[in-house]
Amino acid sequence: MTRRSSELFAAAQECIPGGVNSPVRAHRNVGGEPFFVGRAAGAKIWDVDGKEYIDYVGSWGPAILGHAAKVAVDAVQTAAARGLSFGIPNPLEVELAELICQWMPSVEKVRMVNSGTEATMSCIRLVRGFTGRDKVIKFDGCYHGHVDSLLVKAGSGALTHGSPDSAGVPKSFAELTISLPFNDVDLVRKTLNENKDEIAAVILEPIPANAGLYLTVLGKVIGGGLPVGAFGGRTEIMNRLSPDGPVYQAGTLSGNPLAMAAGLAQLRELERIDGWELLEKLGTTYEQLTRDAIAHAEIDITFHRIGSMFCLFFAPPSIVDLGGAKRSNLKNFAKFFHACLERGVYFAPSQFETGFISTAHTPDDIEATAKVVREALRSI
Ligand SMILES: Cc1ncc(COP(=O)(O)O)c(C=O)c1O
Repeated sequence: MTRRSSELFAAAQECIPGGVNSPVRAHRNVGGEPFFVGRAAGAKIWDVDGKEYIDYVGSWGPAILGHAAKVAVDAVQTAAARGLSFGIPNPLEVELAELICQWMPSVEKVRMVNSGTEATMSCIRLVRGFTGRDKVIKFDGCYHGHVDSLLVKAGSGALTHGSPDSAGVPKSFAELTISLPFNDVDLVRKTLNENKDEIAAVILEPIPANAGLYLTVLGKVIGGGLPVGAFGGRTEIMNRLSPDGPVYQAGTLSGNPLAMAAGLAQLRELERIDGWELLEKLGTTYEQLTRDAIAHAEIDITFHRIGSMFCLFFAPPSIVDLGGAKRSNLKNFAKFFHACLERGVYFAPSQFETGFISTAHTPDDIEATAKVVREALRSI
């Protein structure tokens, strides 16, 4: 670990629990200490001592155009000069809401919030208010933020930090959540039948939206790197929200002008450059090169990719649920992570997180990364 990062981490541990403001950042899954970022641009980040990395965390998703994308930074600067927060409706909220409704026809109305957690929390309250039912079905290992009733067999940091069922969640809350194995449709049907008229919602991650998903929850990318979440759906359901309906939901910073401006700029730029096509292309190249590297490895590895998101499990195929993922050799993952980090490639510091490619990753970045992956696999 670089010197200034080490000093900062020591200082952070004195005043911030675990030295971090979100658990996975602490690198406990892979050992060692986190580095502190000095700046980031495009697909690169530089730590506070100036070491350069090709980044595949991308702020855990929002940096889909790469870091400090000019369109988003310009939009934020313009918005900031007009005021940082009003607590009064501003035109950008309408623009972003219209864009989301236009892109997602199932979303007729959308309410902006400040994080994914807040979006899922409010969404669950709304569906409970709308249906008059209390129970929620989720799936083992799926993470929906740190909402009390969703921290049951949750994934992400909750999984790797040994507390998929968090302390501090009253048993009576957790009892309203039914967590089922992923990819077992018959079991979902059976559970729905056994709990007839009791299930308010089925919440799914990612979104193979069948089996009665009532609302759409959005986050990360729609905020362009600023704190944003949103949830939306049919007008009939959304109208149950305050001030129209009886389900209370509020937020002083919701619809914040900087966040709306960054999100709008990012989404419009994605559309302008046909970002999805570009990401699929980069993802395909990365997949081909990685599969080639894996073919030469002598350990069990399973590689998954969808669009710009990917994961390299240190476990044999096939992996279709949490049980499969948990067969991963975490020691090998930790060795791989550090071998890549040393060589200037930053993957998420946990076997149970995803890699993100951005539109700012160049074919050269992808090739350099594949070379590092091959070397790192050889070093295990
Ligand atoms: C599917 C999903 N839902 C909700 C969340 C929580 O979002 P936030 O961290 O913004 O609260 C996450 C975060 O990783 C997520 O991946």
